[in-house]
Amino acid sequence: MNDLEQLVLDAQGDFQRSATPAELENAKARYLGKSGRLTEQLKALASLSHDEKKSRGALINGAKQQVEAALQARRQALADAELDLQLKAEALDVTLPGRRRGDGAVHPIAATTARIEAIFASMGFDVADGPEIETDWYSFTALNNPENHPARSMQDTFYVDVKDAEGRWLNLRPHTSPMQIRYAQAHAKKHAGKPHMPDIRVIAPGRTYRVDSDATHSPMFHQVEGLWVGENVSFKDLKAMYLAFIQAFFETTELKLRFRPSYFPFTEPSAEIDIMFESGPLTGRWLEVSGSGQVHPQVIRNMGLDPERYIGFAFGSGIDRLAMLRYGISDLRLFFDGDLRFLSQFH
Ligand code: PHE
Repeated sequence: MNDLEQLVLDAQGDFQRSATPAELENAKARYLGKSGRLTEQLKALASLSHDEKKSRGALINGAKQQVEAALQARRQALADAELDLQLKAEALDVTLPGRRRGDGAVHPIAATTARIEAIFASMGFDVADGPEIETDWYSFTALNNPENHPARSMQDTFYVDVKDAEGRWLNLRPHTSPMQIRYAQAHAKKHAGKPHMPDIRVIAPGRTYRVDSDATHSPMFHQVEGLWVGENVSFKDLKAMYLAFIQAFFETTELKLRFRPSYFPFTEPSAEIDIMFESGPLTGRWLEVSGSGQVHPQVIRNMGLDPERYIGFAFGSGIDRLAMLRYGISDLRLFFDGDLRFLSQFH
């Protein structure tokens, strides 16, 4: 073996033993660096004759090509190994089943509200939405419920630590009835000065609040307000309309309505609406589902309308109560506990 063959073998061995790119670069310097073994061989050519230079030069070049090839191969091998390691570390098993989120579902109260909206929309009612934080005027005064009147305690609510323009605490509305006023005012304003005002026909579902908490009362609950005001609207319209609604809601005609005299400051006369199923598990008991009545003339006035000309009725039904009856649930709190064992039954 001549000295150049030995040099190539040494280089191949050194490169092979280099375990990292840094070690490999050091090994390279020992052969191809400024005073590397191959570089020294090239320098030594200077002292040779022309012919010797030619033949020796060719041999050295051949050796250099081999060394460079070995270096290149080792570089590639180290880079491949590095990539392999990295791929292993970041391995993804694409055959693993994905982590799914559970299927969501519409909350039974939201579903019930949507159902109520659809039924009333089919009877020509608009659906309105309004603030849950109300002024004293909309929650009480405009509804003919003056300050210090004992009827206010029927609707003891929560107050917000902020005062309205009249210096009264804002409240969390204890019922959806403020929406009667808000909607009717906007309607009256929109049609002011016209010879004829189309009837007001609206429902306003939403959250309401009272200081109350047991199996059938929650501090936050849901009502749907209904209002129909026109020049020729009477209690019989209320009865027909409410019966049509309740039959559509419960998908049965085997059901009776009863109007039981009651009191609300904003209606006169006032009545509770009770229903009785004539078939099914709830048969034979009167169940209260709504307050109602003919809109009080003072309330008509507060809406910006002339009580000599306009008359109407209103009702306020408990959405949660309707949902409990429809789904056969005895504890209202189940709706609001957020327990998936309960809620997932409504998928
Ligand atoms: N706002 C009344 C309540 O919350 C219900 C009601 C609405 C009564 C409209 C009459 C007319 O009890």
